[in-house]
Amino acid sequence: MVIKQVMVIGAGQMGSGIAQVCAAAGYDVYLHDLKKEFVERGLAGIEKNVQRLVDKGRLSVEEKAGLLERIKPSADLQNAKEVDVVIEAAVENMEVKKQLFAELDQIAPSHAILATNTSSLPITEIAAATSRPEQVIGMHFMNPVPVMKLVEIIRGLATKDEVYAAIETMAKELGKVPVEVNDFPGFISNRVLMPMINEAIFTLYEGVASKEAIDEVMKLGMNHPMGPLQLADFIGLDTCLYIMETLQEGLGEDKYRPCPLLRKYVKAGWLGKKTGRGFYEYS
Ligand code: CAA
Ligand code: NAD
Repeated sequence: MVIKQVMVIGAGQMGSGIAQVCAAAGYDVYLHDLKKEFVERGLAGIEKNVQRLVDKGRLSVEEKAGLLERIKPSADLQNAKEVDVVIEAAVENMEVKKQLFAELDQIAPSHAILATNTSSLPITEIAAATSRPEQVIGMHFMNPVPVMKLVEIIRGLATKDEVYAAIETMAKELGKVPVEVNDFPGFISNRVLMPMINEAIFTLYEGVASKEAIDEVMKLGMNHPMGPLQLADFIGLDTCLYIMETLQEGLGEDKYRPCPLLRKYVKAGWLGKKTGRGFYEYS
């Protein structure tokens, strides 16, 4: 299958990173969000990232211009009628994703693959919202997308081998290392990572130590690049909460119960780096 035109849905931190690496690999990309302003914010982030690469001498000014030209803004889902692959990176909410996939199924050409960057939600259930579940697949990038090598690829119950092969090839063309994972809540990455982050939040909640001490222990003691609370802020506390809820509901065990402090922060709108405040404050 020839993949040329891609649409990335959601111009947040993941969607803009995915659009950047797709354009860098030579794909034409629509970066789509609910509002033009959201797309413009995503594009501004990409511009900044790419300029950093120019400043470091890793990209020429011409390459930067070519990369940015390959990304077209979209606030109209009808643009999906031209695409070969959609990569959905909207909010981590099953109803939103099902609604989007049902609409995309109506709009996208019959050959198009509909991929989701969901962190934890069942691919099979998202696929069931379409009439082409054999062309729906999980393509789970890590944050920050331009830096992190991993892409988890998850088949739904009906995903065809050719679709898996096309997405695996695409991930390699993006310079990523694909790893196949079965369709279980949280896949591998968040099944293992998120309970650690949740436990770090419980550690803070129960007064075991300060947030700085918890992060310092995990950074210096375990050689993690970021402490778990700093990482939670970086991922987004809303996303962390939704993932824990999916693990708790999908795996049916109390050990995945989200910490009440995580719920409180999300209710307060303290979503981490993206809103300027989470466990830490950001200017
Ligand atoms: N976008 C693009 N590039 C970025 C970036 C961003 N947001 N942030 C950092 N970089 C680049 C920098 O430009 C720098 O590039 P060079 O080495 O080529 O010069 C490189 O990354 C290192 O950056 P810094 O020196 O500024 O900072 P650092 O050494 O602390 O690294 C980090 C930053 C890569 C983010 C590192 O702290 C890290 O690996 N953190 C953990 C990230 C992680 O665990 N991600 C997975 C989250 S879970 C997930 O994604 C799944 C999910 O579903 C929730
Ligand atoms: P984000 O909050 O930064 O961005 C989400 C974007 O989606 C926003 O711009 C929002 O306006 C847009 N959006 C919401 N509903 C939409 C709709 N119906 N149509 C079009 N756009 C819509 O979130 P994010 O961190 O980029 O996460 C996006 C997805 O990627 C989630 O499913 C998340 O679980 C997953 N993910 C996140 C991370 C992470 O570290 N943050 C890592 C891997 C995967």
